[in-house]
Amino acid sequence: MKDIPVGKPILKDDVWVIKMDGKIKAFYNRCTHLGCPLSFNGLIFVCRCHGSKFNLNGERIEGPAKRALKALKVKITPDKEVFVKI
Ligand code: FES
Repeated sequence: MKDIPVGKPILKDDVWVIKMDGKIKAFYNRCTHLGCPLSFNGLIFVCRCHGSKFNLNGERIEGPAKRALKALKVKITPDKEVFVKI
């Protein structure tokens, strides 16, 4: 995964990948409430089932979910390839 835009998450293979503050983060595309997939509304992640909201760091903002999104391990190769361990 090259060419990840800054501050705009990309959904690939059920993983959200985002570049912010010079770092790349990845989150599993499942809400921590009951596991529904998430949408990105241009600012935050929103659960499609019951509306929990999460910021770009995966932290819960509001809704029935009690935990942050599951962060996944990211590995970047010397030639800037990005790999995410699910
Ligand atoms: S599954 Fe996401 S808020 Fe319920």
